[in-house]
Amino acid sequence: MASKEEFFDHIEKGYATKGDHLIMGAAMLEGEAVTNAHVKVPLKTMNRHGLIAGATGTGKTKTLQVLAENLSDKGVPVLLMDLKGDLSGIAQPSPGHAKIDERHAKIGLPFEAKSFPVEILSLSEQDGVKLRATVSEFGPVLLSRILDLTATQEGIVAVVFKYCDDNKLPLLDLKDFKKVLQYATGGGKAEFSKDYGRISTSSTGAILRKIIELEQQGADLFFGEKSFEVDDLTRVDENGRGYINIIRLTDIQDRPKLFSTFMLSLLAEIYATFPEQGDSDRPELILFIDEAHLIFNEASKALLDQIESIVKLIRSKGIGLYFVTQNPTDVPDAVLSQLGLKVQHALRAFTAKDRKAIKLTAENYPDSDFYDTNEVLTSLGIGEALVSALDEKGRPTPLAATLLRAPMSRMDVLTDNELKALIKKSDLVKKYGENIDRESAYEILNEKIDKAEKEAAKEKAKPKTTSRRRTSTRQNPVIKVLTSATFIRGVLGVLKKVIR
Ligand SMILES: Nc1ncnc2c1ncn2[C@@H]1O[C@H](COP(=O)(O)OP(=O)(O)O)[C@@H](O)[C@H]1O
Ligand SMILES: [Mg+2]
Repeated sequence: MASKEEFFDHIEKGYATKGDHLIMGAAMLEGEAVTNAHVKVPLKTMNRHGLIAGATGTGKTKTLQVLAENLSDKGVPVLLMDLKGDLSGIAQPSPGHAKIDERHAKIGLPFEAKSFPVEILSLSEQDGVKLRATVSEFGPVLLSRILDLTATQEGIVAVVFKYCDDNKLPLLDLKDFKKVLQYATGGGKAEFSKDYGRISTSSTGAILRKIIELEQQGADLFFGEKSFEVDDLTRVDENGRGYINIIRLTDIQDRPKLFSTFMLSLLAEIYATFPEQGDSDRPELILFIDEAHLIFNEASKALLDQIESIVKLIRSKGIGLYFVTQNPTDVPDAVLSQLGLKVQHALRAFTAKDRKAIKLTAENYPDSDFYDTNEVLTSLGIGEALVSALDEKGRPTPLAATLLRAPMSRMDVLTDNELKALIKKSDLVKKYGENIDRESAYEILNEKIDKAEKEAAKEKAKPKTTSRRRTSTRQNPVIKVLTSATFIRGVLGVLKKVIR
C-alpha cells in the first residue's frame, strides 16, 4: 500500500504550477483527504475545455459554481447556461456551515464567504438582459444548419439573403424572412427568376414548414433587435473580478432547437469577434453548459459538425467550453477528445448498462498507481470527484480523487426579491431592453415588397430594358467565419442547378 508521504509528493509534483491557478480541493487517498495535497488547475490551460460529469446529486453544479467563482476572483469573466435555474445564488455570500468549515480544514484551505458580480440574461420572456440576434446576423449558413436543410433548400436560403442584401431589405426576424421567401415564389417570381434563377414552390414550402417548427420552439423571441454584443460578456467589476453572466434557461429544456440555435449563434459570434490569443497565460472567457446533453441529443449531423469545429477553433481565441452532464457518453466523442479538464463525480452502478458506462468512463482517465479507477468511480461521496487536468505544459496531471472545496457564494437560489433587485440595478438590462419597434421594421419590409410587387406588375405590362444596379452591403462576421471556400463552391453549384 502506498504511503501518504509518497502520495503527497506525487500530487504536489504532478500539480505544481508556476503561474496563476485555481485550487479545486485536496487529493484523497483511501477515501480520506490528504490535507494540503492541493489539486490545482493552471489558468493557462483553461481554454482547453473541460467536462464535469456524474450522477444526479453528486455535486456537478456545485463544482461548476466553484470553478466559476474562482475564475471570477482571478479576473476571468464567465458565462453560465443555467438550465435548472439553480445558480443565481452566486450573487449572494454563503451563509457558511460547520460542515463547510470541516471540509475546508481537511483540504487545508481557509473558507471565505463572499458574493460575486452577476449579470442575469434571458433568451425568452423572463427578466434579465435580452439576448437577441437578427436573422441577417445569424446568416444563411447557420440558418440552414439549424433548419437542417437540403443542399437545394440551402441554395434558396442563400439567394434570399443575397436578394435582401442587394435590395437593402433588413432581415430582422423570422417574419421578415418568411415574407421574402413567399415573395420569391409569389409576387416577386419574375424578378427572382430573372436575377437569381427559378425557385420552386415546393422548396420554399419545405423551408417555411421548418421555420414554423423553429418558431414553435420560441425562436421568434430570439430573432430580432436589439442584437446582443458579445463584448458585454467580458466585463470586469471595479475590484477586478470577472462578471459571472448567468443565462437563465429554465423554460428552454423542452425547446432544444432554440437552445442549439442560440448556442451556435453565440459561439459563432464570439469566434468572429474575439481576437486571436496566441500563447496566453489566462483565458478571456469561460463558458459552462449545464445539462449539456440537451444540445447534443437533438442536434443534426451538420449541426454537430459545426459545434465540433467551433470547439476546436475557439480555443485559440482564449475561450474555454465546459460541458456539465450526467454521463460522459452524452458528449460526442469528437468533442470529448478535445477536453483538457475532466471532473468525474460518482457514477451509480444499478444496471449492467451502468456498469458498462463506468468501465468506459474509467478507460478515459489516466492510469494511477494509487487508485482502482473503476472502484473509486462508484465510491466517491458528494462533493468529491476524480480530477485530471492539463499542466502548464499541456500534459495530463496525475489522476486525483479530490475532496472539492465548497462554493464561497450561496448554494441556494436567490429569492424573487433578490433577483428583481439584481436585475433592476443592471445597466445591460437597460441597454438591451430599450424597445426597438420591430413592428415598424416589418412594415418597412412589407411596404418595400408591396412596392416591388406593384413595380413587377407594371413591368409585366411594359418590357424592361435597364439592368438593376446592385448595392453591396457589409458582410456579416458570422458568415465570414463560417463560409468556407468549399461551402461557397457548394452553394454556387446548387445555384447553377437551380438556375438551369
Ligand atoms: N463542493 C461541495 N461542497 C459542499 N457541498 C456540496 C459540494 N458539492 C455538492 N454539495 C452538496 O450536494 C448537493 C447536490 O449538489 P449539486 O451540485 O446540485 O448536484 P448535481 O448538480 O450533480 O445534481 C448540494 O446541494 C450540496 O449540498
Ligand atoms: Mg446539477
